[in-house]
Amino acid sequence: MPRLSVTHLLGIKYLNKQDIELIFKTADHFKEVINRPIKKVPSLRDITIANLFFENSTRTKLSFELAEKRLSATVINFSSNQSSVKKGETLIDTVANILAMKVDIIVMRHPDAGAGVFLSKHINAKIINAGDGTHEHPTQALLDSYSIREKLGTLKGKKIVLIGDILHSRVALSNIYALQLQGAKVMVCGPTTLLPKYISSLGVKVETNIKKALQWCDIANVLRVQHERMNGKYFPSIREYTQLFGINTELLNAIGKEIVIMHPGPINRGVEITSDVADSKQAIILNQVENGVAIRMAVIYLLAQQIPN
Ligand code: CP
Repeated sequence: MPRLSVTHLLGIKYLNKQDIELIFKTADHFKEVINRPIKKVPSLRDITIANLFFENSTRTKLSFELAEKRLSATVINFSSNQSSVKKGETLIDTVANILAMKVDIIVMRHPDAGAGVFLSKHINAKIINAGDGTHEHPTQALLDSYSIREKLGTLKGKKIVLIGDILHSRVALSNIYALQLQGAKVMVCGPTTLLPKYISSLGVKVETNIKKALQWCDIANVLRVQHERMNGKYFPSIREYTQLFGINTELLNAIGKEIVIMHPGPINRGVEITSDVADSKQAIILNQVENGVAIRMAVIYLLAQQIPN
């Protein structure tokens, strides 16, 4: 049986093209499973998974939990705001105590970049990064690519623009790595203050004119402005940001072609995207969420195959 080249999923940076193809092929099978009347398979009855969320989440947390339960794994959930982290317990102590309860796989969201890599060097369990600070969000990028492949047939040669707050976005970095591995062309577009200085060294096009960016692309992946990660002011006002970079119907009608709209969520309706665009036929936002469960089932299943009996 084919295996992943990695022993954890810490970032797309560590994957190769064959890994992504294997994850997608496995996700195709699980997508068929979750559309059956009985959406569950017994594959991971002997596996225990802990979901550790040190940062807020709706989609990723629920999607992982559902994926684990649909694989019949035993699941425990941990939220840092209701835990002994509040009493000063360290990350390694927290995880070591959880592992003492015979846990095989840790799914972790953490506000610090590199938290998953750090943990993988200190503990003996499979780690899946569910988003680490402004660094990577690998399962989001996998589900985004899978959704593009489903919509357009292939990623090879397709043009994808990531719009908005690139500086604070782990979704952007993971998407850049994943899209390039699959032969897509990538552009970033946003205010210069929200574009990292190193961004062009990643081989992406850089554009600050939203209309030109939309005219260039086949797909626009619209990102949230991450106010919670901003220490100072990156643009004069939300109103000005929306005027210059917000995606609305008038702008989409003016580009002379139909493009596909994506958003990883959570959406700031009326800020980076208007409700009529987010809810339009052009948008595949809820398809992304649906595909997230199949992708996470695939990642968990493939990593679990490496665990000795
Ligand atoms: N896309 C995403 O990571 O959403 P959540 O923060 O709700 O998990």
